Amino acid sequence: MNIEDRINELLGRMTLAEKVGQLNEAALNQPMEALRERVRAGSTGVLVGAFSAFAGHEKGKIETDINDELQRIAVEESRLGIPLIIGRDIIHGHRTVFPIPLAQAASWDCEAVREANGFMALEAAADGYHWTYAPMLDVSRDPRWGRMVEGYGEDPYLAARMAEAAIKGLGDQGLAACAKHYIGYGASEGGRDYASTEISDYSLYNDYLPPFRAAVEAGVQTVMSSFNDINGEPVSGSYRLLTKLLKEELGFEGFIVSDWDAVQQLIAQGVAAGEKEAARIAFSAGVDVDGVQELFLRFLPELAAEGKVSVERLDDAVRRVLRVKFQLGLFDHPYGLKPSKPPLNKPLARRIAAECMVLLKNRDNLLPLPKKGLKIALVGPFADIRDAHLGAWSLDGQAGDVVTAAEGVQAALPDCKIILPESILFDDVITAARKADIVIAVLGESRDKTGEARSAASLEPTGDQIALLREIHRFTDNIVSVICAGRPLDLTEVLRHSKSVLYAWHLGIEAGNAMADVLFGTVNPGGKLPCTFPRGTGQIPIYYNHRSSGRSTDEYYGDAEFANYQDIPGSPLFPFGFGLQYTTYEYGEVVVDKNTVAVDVTNTGSRLGVETVQLYLRDERAEIIRPVRLLKGFSRVSLAPGETKTVRFTLGEEELSYYAPNGSRIPGSGWFTIWVGGDCVSGKRVYWHDITLVNVR
Ligand code: BGC
Repeated sequence: MNIEDRINELLGRMTLAEKVGQLNEAALNQPMEALRERVRAGSTGVLVGAFSAFAGHEKGKIETDINDELQRIAVEESRLGIPLIIGRDIIHGHRTVFPIPLAQAASWDCEAVREANGFMALEAAADGYHWTYAPMLDVSRDPRWGRMVEGYGEDPYLAARMAEAAIKGLGDQGLAACAKHYIGYGASEGGRDYASTEISDYSLYNDYLPPFRAAVEAGVQTVMSSFNDINGEPVSGSYRLLTKLLKEELGFEGFIVSDWDAVQQLIAQGVAAGEKEAARIAFSAGVDVDGVQELFLRFLPELAAEGKVSVERLDDAVRRVLRVKFQLGLFDHPYGLKPSKPPLNKPLARRIAAECMVLLKNRDNLLPLPKKGLKIALVGPFADIRDAHLGAWSLDGQAGDVVTAAEGVQAALPDCKIILPESILFDDVITAARKADIVIAVLGESRDKTGEARSAASLEPTGDQIALLREIHRFTDNIVSVICAGRPLDLTEVLRHSKSVLYAWHLGIEAGNAMADVLFGTVNPGGKLPCTFPRGTGQIPIYYNHRSSGRSTDEYYGDAEFANYQDIPGSPLFPFGFGLQYTTYEYGEVVVDKNTVAVDVTNTGSRLGVETVQLYLRDERAEIIRPVRLLKGFSRVSLAPGETKTVRFTLGEEELSYYAPNGSRIPGSGWFTIWVGGDCVSGKRVYWHDITLVNVR
């Protein structure tokens, strides 16, 4: 029997209560006996392995035997034996913690992201999980928002490619993904978490929807409906966004789970008079599974009896849940295929961490440092700590698995002893720095300052970190700053006092080793920024793909007639796509032949490098104003010193068209400017018009 026949056969045997049970997601925030009873009674079909809504800040492991026990009850003791689907927030690693998602996007390496997700799924499956609440696909232009750490940055195209890679990687090991938070959550006003959003339909289709569209096309099995409202319309109660757009227009066939108590929140948002009404609104809008408040469980039977929710809708929701369970093979292997627990994948964690780092400044080519002949001091709050490198949302990571910066650097220099301060006292740190030829200052922000409900009004490194740099700078210029953070920080002062700056994000368990790989040149850093770095909060929002103005105001891309601000430059501190290397590249002329764009890229330095060649375009005659530049292709090319390769991009309907506010696709005008380069501002430009599209994908 095929899956749809099996679903129908099962559905025919289910009571109303059992159907509703499949639409209930329970958490571990209740007495275990009550949970066992719910599962036995068939009134919980979905389980989230979390104790509270703030799982992202929960540290400490869940006893995973519970997964097998509850599954056994579901399969052996419930009337129909329907297996549970068991999920957990496994966001950027389970026990092997990889770099935070924002850092992974900085690698621009879809294959590596797929591999990391695959390994994370393998570890998760060994612990009895079938499902993870990732990837997070919220495009965000506001680094104050703490949750920027969980996503892939400011660009819809890059986020879409990352989404595909992550979903495929999870799927490679049989784990279901959950594209979240659908939709618009990343536009939270003022970067304040859980705030409302204003998003025009034009922006919704072109800026916020593309990663979700890509996720659906990549076969994502579940989607999470978000907390926020858009223009006053709460997403988790929106028929237009959930049913019309996601299910009908994009063709999503899996189930929609509400974010943690998002159904209940319709009451606080002032659109539902009480719990029963909240359940009716969310369910009718298209939420299939109610996240943790049991409102569907308590009220759907009543609502069905009163004819306020239809049998068709109920069966549709149950079908969606069963479909995912059948697709995962849970009816045949309720405990999963249970691979044996693999050892920590340190080599992969190290390789990816090294790829994510972005070299922002390297005056006089101070980096890479020689491995011999220098006295090196390692100072700063991140020099010798473990936990913070795990980043937000690493529920099952263990601080003990983390290689510190000091350990990594020391391991890379077996022949000399690095200098560490005797204590964290300011004076002791300065004393250590004074003894060295080179000072590596490892700075940043705590992982607890990032993630859910952790927004920040200031992006400057906190505490005495800048004072420390300033003091060290009084006696030496040889300062390398390594910044460990979950968002773009304001590096204005760091840059002033450092010869080199390496952005290391929160890199996961192999942080120290990966840093050493880059600092000493074993790896030539190839990371490129997935988001614009502002000069402080006053510039926010600042993003590379803003729309054209009629006046000359665009300081992002160079001089403008009208300054954006009287008191600071309008240009960003670092633009989207930016990243230096230990080698240099020269870009040849951009040549367009029909719909193929080709450019020769030459490694003009003396080291092997991997350059991420980026293609941007602007529609010059559009029906609606288009972004000044829009990423529409990228390619990672490995080049030996002196080597030239021709990099080709194919532009088709997908790349050239855009969406009208009503969601219809407008083909490109045929008049474009194209840039190809190593970041969004520096590319070589070509005008392209009257194109004939051939081989349109
Ligand atoms: C978060 C989600 C998360 C869920 C389950 C919510 O508070 O917004 O991202 O997946 O909790 O833990």
